[in-house]
This record gives sequence, C-alpha cells and structure tokens, in this order.
Amino acid sequence: MKITIIGTGYVGLVTGTCFAELGNKVTCVDNNKKKIADLKKLIMPIYEPGLEDLVRRNVKEGRLLFTSSIKQAVKESEIIFICVSTPPKDDGEADLTSVENVARSIALNMSSYCLIVDKSTVPVETGEWVKHTIKVNLKDRGKKNLKFDVASSPEFLREGQAIYDFMHPDRIVIGVETKRAEELLSKLYKPFKVPIVVTDIKSAELIKHASNSFLAMKISFINVVSRLCEKVGADITKVARGVGLDKRIGKSFLDAGIGYGGSCFPKDVDAFIKIAEKHGCDLSILTETRRINSDQVRLFIKKIEDSLWIVKDKVIGVLGLSFKPGTDDLRNAASLKIIERLLSEGACIKTFDPQAMPKAGEIIKSSRLKFSKGVYDVAKGCDCLVIVTEWDEFKAMDLERIKKIMKQPLIIDGRNIFDPEYMKKIGIKYLSIGR
Ligand code: UDX
Repeated sequence: MKITIIGTGYVGLVTGTCFAELGNKVTCVDNNKKKIADLKKLIMPIYEPGLEDLVRRNVKEGRLLFTSSIKQAVKESEIIFICVSTPPKDDGEADLTSVENVARSIALNMSSYCLIVDKSTVPVETGEWVKHTIKVNLKDRGKKNLKFDVASSPEFLREGQAIYDFMHPDRIVIGVETKRAEELLSKLYKPFKVPIVVTDIKSAELIKHASNSFLAMKISFINVVSRLCEKVGADITKVARGVGLDKRIGKSFLDAGIGYGGSCFPKDVDAFIKIAEKHGCDLSILTETRRINSDQVRLFIKKIEDSLWIVKDKVIGVLGLSFKPGTDDLRNAASLKIIERLLSEGACIKTFDPQAMPKAGEIIKSSRLKFSKGVYDVAKGCDCLVIVTEWDEFKAMDLERIKKIMKQPLIIDGRNIFDPEYMKKIGIKYLSIGR
C-alpha cells in the first residue's frame, strides 16, 4: 500500500521504516529540513538498534522515501499517519499545536479520499478535533465534498526495542468510525498474526494513555513496596517474583529501581491526569504514582549522601546516563538529577555510558564532571560507584578488579543488577533498592 508518515521522530521513523520493510511504499515527511537531508544521506537522528540497516535497505530497494514536501506526500497516499510530537505544556497538558498544523496541511493538499490515522500519543477526543479541522479547511478551499476518514492507531514501541516491538506486537489497536477505514487498516496490518482490537476512536485514544499509565503505576507500586522491604529486611526481587508469577498480575514492570523516566511515561501520566481533570474525573491514583516516582530518585540520592558522610570533594563514579539501556535518550533520565545534585554539593563526578555521553555533554557542563572511557576508567580512585542504568556491560564487569581500583569499595546500585550475597563475599559494601 502507499502510505505517508508525517513526523520522522522516534515513532514516525520506526513506523515508516517497518511498514516499508513489510512491502509498502512509504513516504516520510518532516518539516525539519536538516533531518530530512541527513536521512537522505542515511544519517539517523536517533540511536535505535537495527534502525540504520533497515532504513538503508528500504531506501535502496525503493520502498522508503524522505521529503520535506507535505504537498507531494499527501497527494500520493491513501493512508496518512500523523506521528508528530505532542510535548507537555508547563501544566502537563499535551500541546497539540503540531497535530492541528498537520491536519490543516493535509486538508490543504489532499485531492482524493484519504484515511488520516493518528499515531502520536494524544488525549481522548483529539480525533474529533482533527476531523473538525480537516472539515473546516476543506470547506474553506471549496472542497467540502472531498471524502476522508479519521482513525486512531496508537503505538506501543519501547525505545531500544522499537523495531522488535513493531514487528512483534502483543496487539494492534485501531479506532475507526467507518467500514472503509477499518478495511484499509486491516489490510495494512494483515501481516501481523495478533489480536486486532477494533474500537471507536475515543476508546483507542484512551487505550494508549491507560496502558502507559498502568505500567507507570505498576513501577511506582513495586517501588513503594521496596521501601517497606528495606525497613523490615525483606528482599523486593523475591517479593516481586512471588507477586508477578500470579498470571493476573504478570511479572514484567515489577523491577524496583530509581523509577521510570523517558519521553513517554512521565509525559503520558501528566497528560492523562490533565484530560481526566478537564472532564471532572479524579485520577489521583496517578498523581500518587507520579509523586512516588520523583521521591524514588530523591531517596536514592539520600542513600549516596548518607553513605559518603560528606559529599564535597568526594569522587563519585556514575555508571549509565540514558533513562534505560539500549538508547541514548536522556529525557527525564534520573542520571541528570543525580549528577546535578551531587555536583551542587561539591562532588567530582566521573561517568560512562555506552551511548548517551555526547548528549549528556551538551546538557551538563561542569569542570567537575569527567566523561570516561569505560567502567574501569570510572571506578579508578572513586569513593563510590553509582549504577544508574542497567547496561549489559555493567552487569558483566569484573567486580574483584573494581574493588582493587576503587579508593573504597562502595557500590550503590539503583537497578539491582548484582547479587548482594556475592558482594558481601568479595568485600564490597553494596547498597541496592529494597534488599
Ligand atoms: C514506554 C512503553 O513501554 C511503550 O509501550 C510506550 O509506547 C512508550 O513508553 P519506553 O519509554 O521506551 O516505552 O521504556 P520502557 O521500557 O517502558 O521503560 C520506561 C521506564 O520505566 C524506564 O525508565 C525503565 O527503567 C523504567 N522501568 C521499567 C522500571 O523502573 N521498572 C520496570 O520494571 C520497568
């Protein structure tokens, strides 16, 4: 099928590339000319495992095209996906300016039937506004008889595993109003042998916000339980296993740590609370989720402070900067809060991250922050080693060697990647979460 993707950010680029890989002819549009010029030269705007190879192959085989001309792209496609960003405003509400602009541009450029599908994460009722915007602008052009449909098809892609998630979804959600829209999307999603949940548009929009909020809630839940574990001397990893093996609960998203970060959970929880407030519904279950999450980083910093006694002039090694492994994304990354706080207290920081150091260097600038070459380079001469992101190479480090090169053997682990018993055995003072 011929499709257009508007917005080549995380979601748009992965979605467009994967649809091309499935044999569709895809045009990806973005108003950022530099991004499009780079993509044409096969320079990726983000780090996502496997993406570059997939883009290269599909461009080479003529199924994937990049352009900054929305006009051209809209004219040639029957299905148009809106994948632009919906950033939070100061009060947490989603800013839908880009969605409205794109809807207007589609209306100004379409010349035959189009199905406009929203894939950006948006609050419920956005589909209605998109429809209204297109109608008004078509009328303004004197084309009020041009037919179109609006649909919602949210994505559930995790950064770092986005291609795998696209190709192996748990379910596909399509929110539609007409048979024609349903048939078009069913045809496009035909290669996937998973349940397709067909709903009205508003329900589809709610599925996305409810899914992410539920996962965030699960993380905050296990994090508060981890605090109780610390008080009474229980082990959160064992508690989580015992709880998660109940099929009704499920074992994923029960890893206690320093809380959730990234571009989705914090933003989506905020936006969901806001849209519920707008409709007079109390979602304080989520305000609590959010509060627990920010407390989790604060408590972790306190753990570091308490175990160093005086932070000023101590050398602290920070392993991991990205909000999770497999990405260079630093949005809402706990590392930034931790490093900023420790620097403000006069510490010297040495850090290493396999992917996120260039971006971090642009965000935090301090003569007391040093980017290192690897884990051993970080650990050398440190008063304390702090694990913030659970990259595999940190899990594989030689702890005996680390112990020898540190000034004092103290590891504070925000991701529970090591066995406390083993640490005890080899003589490293080890503090983790809820154990
Ligand atoms: C998330 C959703 O999973 C995805 O479906 C959605 O569309 C986009 O948002 P992503 O933000 O890439 O994806 O990351 P995810 O793997 O879900 O992790 C989010 C955060 O939660 C990370 O900071 C991670 O470290 C944290 N987390 C996750 C935990 O603290 N504990 C867990 O058990 C799981």
